[in-house]
Amino acid sequence: MSKEKIAVAYSGGLDTSVMIKWLKDKYDAEIVAVTGNLGQQMEIDNLESKSIATGASSFHFVDLRKQFVEEYIWRALKAGALYEDVYPLATALGRPLLAKALVDVALEEGCTMLTHGCTGKGNDQVRFEVTFASLAPHLKVIAPLRIWEFTSREQEIAYALEHNIPVSATKKNPYSIDENIWGISIECGVLEDPMVAPPEDAFQITTSPEKAPDTPTVVDIEFVEGVPVALDGRQMAGLDLIVKLNELGARNGVGRLDMVENRVVGIKSREIYEAPAATILHFAHRELERLVLEKSVFQYKKNISQDYANIIYNGTWFSPMRHALDAFVNVTQKPVTGLVRVKLYKGGISLLGRNSPYSLYNEELATYTEADTYDHKAAEGFIKIYGLGLKTFHEVNKNS
Ligand code: ARG
Repeated sequence: MSKEKIAVAYSGGLDTSVMIKWLKDKYDAEIVAVTGNLGQQMEIDNLESKSIATGASSFHFVDLRKQFVEEYIWRALKAGALYEDVYPLATALGRPLLAKALVDVALEEGCTMLTHGCTGKGNDQVRFEVTFASLAPHLKVIAPLRIWEFTSREQEIAYALEHNIPVSATKKNPYSIDENIWGISIECGVLEDPMVAPPEDAFQITTSPEKAPDTPTVVDIEFVEGVPVALDGRQMAGLDLIVKLNELGARNGVGRLDMVENRVVGIKSREIYEAPAATILHFAHRELERLVLEKSVFQYKKNISQDYANIIYNGTWFSPMRHALDAFVNVTQKPVTGLVRVKLYKGGISLLGRNSPYSLYNEELATYTEADTYDHKAAEGFIKIYGLGLKTFHEVNKNS
């Protein structure tokens, strides 16, 4: 009888390398290693040979970048999704897509089990497993890090040496890092003390604001229905546009974030993020919305942004609620077409200008010059009626 197959979400790091051998022995199974490309820097050739040398029977490399940008990142941007008003959700957005890619390979290869390398304290286990349960409830899920005997990195390294598992010779990074095109999440080490300022070596791509150039970078960002399509007048594919903005932002020290956030499992954690493109795009997108959205839509959308961010963070991407919110968001985005000019300078982003064919800004109404067309006299009657309720209240309730 042929062996059962386990699909492993593989990154090439220590945990997922040790996992391959550990699972193979424990379940007497064949291992199918799957790596998704979400735009992180990595050596693909290396991963293939490494996973096979570690004991996997096959390796699948899935390029998810375009889909990640068009179906995940742009939706989050249009929704204005920033978790607890800060985090652009890079890691969180990538998980459902990686989980889906793993399920797709597992079904194609006839696997009966799915595994990931997440710990029992984090959000990522929730995101992976809720997605597995939504898309392939019949497959068994194993989370080795929650159940295996290793309690330290040293023990894993000893196991790797004992079983000839190739692990990178590079010096241990003091941080736990997750990376994709929408941003980098950095935790652990000295960062666990929320009073300790992040050391310079915690940052992977951004220049410190102090060392950033003395001359600012000005960028024109064009949006069509809420989606950025061009930089400085040049049309670009989404992926290239994000890469370019990451580069410009990083060089100017833009996109460093430091927050204490509320995890799904009830823990508060301190996290450092680097997300230059996401920070710039959310800023520019919101400024364009200020210009084109009707007042009640603009103000109401804040609630939707928060709900949308929670859905992404909490791992319920594949849900009717997310689809319903997408419908709302997409209706609001029809007029979000236009140009935003921003300045990147020593860690900061400032707005230089904005315009749109759907601008609701009417200079003849706003101006204090002779060109004014606003009916000043009508204000009197308006205020009388508008303030009538309060006037009546205060007549009855003296001194309150
Ligand atoms: N706190 C973030 C989130 O839940 C990032 C977690 C990523 N993990 C890491 N290894 N830094 O989405």
